[in-house]
Amino acid sequence: MNLVLARACTNSCPYCFESGEREKGKAALVPMENVVKLAVWARQSQLPYLSLLGGEPFLHPELPAIIALFRKTSPGTGLRILTGGIFKNRLLENIGPDDSGIIFNVNEPRDYRNPKHFDKVMNNIETAIRRGFRVILGFNVWRPDFDPKFMPELAHRLGRSNFRWTVANPQRDFPSSVVTPEQYRVTADKCFEMLQEAARLKIEALLDCPLPLCFFTDEQMAWVRQYHDGTASRMGSCEPVIDVTPELEALRCFALSTLQRVKVTDFSSEQELSDWFRLNTDYQLLESGCFPHCVDCPHFKDGRCFGGCLALHKGGITEGADPPGTAMAVAMQELLDAGNPAAALQKYESANFWAKTVVPTFVAAVAATELKRWDLVVRYASSALDQSNDPEIKGLSAKLLTGVPADQFRAAKADGDVPPFVACS
Ligand SMILES: C[S@@+](CC[C@H](N)C(=O)[O-])C[C@H]1O[C@@H](n2cnc3c(N)ncnc32)[C@H](O)[C@@H]1O
Repeated sequence: MNLVLARACTNSCPYCFESGEREKGKAALVPMENVVKLAVWARQSQLPYLSLLGGEPFLHPELPAIIALFRKTSPGTGLRILTGGIFKNRLLENIGPDDSGIIFNVNEPRDYRNPKHFDKVMNNIETAIRRGFRVILGFNVWRPDFDPKFMPELAHRLGRSNFRWTVANPQRDFPSSVVTPEQYRVTADKCFEMLQEAARLKIEALLDCPLPLCFFTDEQMAWVRQYHDGTASRMGSCEPVIDVTPELEALRCFALSTLQRVKVTDFSSEQELSDWFRLNTDYQLLESGCFPHCVDCPHFKDGRCFGGCLALHKGGITEGADPPGTAMAVAMQELLDAGNPAAALQKYESANFWAKTVVPTFVAAVAATELKRWDLVVRYASSALDQSNDPEIKGLSAKLLTGVPADQFRAAKADGDVPPFVACS
């Protein structure tokens, strides 16, 4: 989870996906009373990590007090500051290096509006390292002709064992200066060069925002898997990030800041917030991906890949829409009521991953029970039981499992109905 401390920024990243948040009339700084509220919430909900960002977090005059307050109120929450690195050097003196890590988002020198800013960023990174902060460098690829040696060489010179990187994503409903999916192929070759250079210098590259699984070629991906697990393992699917505004409203992520917001304190944990965004945002936007071929891709259909940043997906959001899978569950129930469990089961099995939520999975288990397809009852009722937080569905699923004859539980064929493997083309 990330908290916006100050909406203004001292940097001028051309690709920034947070700039849409800087509208007039919104609070410039997070008020201390909201910091207290969030710190108490963090302790109660056992929040593991919080990133302090903006805009530029060093613009908040109470930054040291905010860090001290979190350390005291919620000592179990690890802190880190995400900065563009343009701030007064002395501000680092007021923070303890053991109290927070610092992630410096560094651009190539040509991307600073004021040429002196790059020197300032370097100076602050060096001071932070000298003072003993855990310093991580981050780099965003926002055009295909970036210098692939820039970040690996900088990280090497400054003795870092890794760096964070991503391909900058757009903000939905705002013009954005980022690489388009049509430019991914040529950009991926450059990114691959960057990763090779990093491996040569024995530096691991950690991917921040995920990329589609087809971003690299299969051959490149096999190499990435061996040398940069922190990139390979982050590709494909995208968990809600949860960016929190100074008003303590949660966004799924800056890229989707024009979509719904909810009040953090209405939820009992970060997990509950993530689940809410997954159901109310992600599932609706996952009707299609960033490429036309996504809809037919097995990685997309099976849920291993989101088809790129959700801000690139064309679909709309209907607020207050039924939870995903509801329409299918209703249609399946109608088929059951009409005495056709086989058709209900067929409907479920031909649906894609995103529609197979708990309720339709439970209805599939009911249909399988009517058909005495014990193998499917075991699989679907167990799955509904595992996935659901609803005591009623849990209880009913457990009851279906109890109804499976003991000799059938083990005897059930595991894979007779699963179609042969189809590789992604
Ligand atoms: C919005 S910035 C705010 C904090 C600070 N100004 C900075 O530059 O880190 C927070 C994070 O968002 C990342 N970021 C900014 N624009 C992005 C984009 N278009 N796509 C992906 N990440 C982005 C930055 O790398 C940084 O780690």
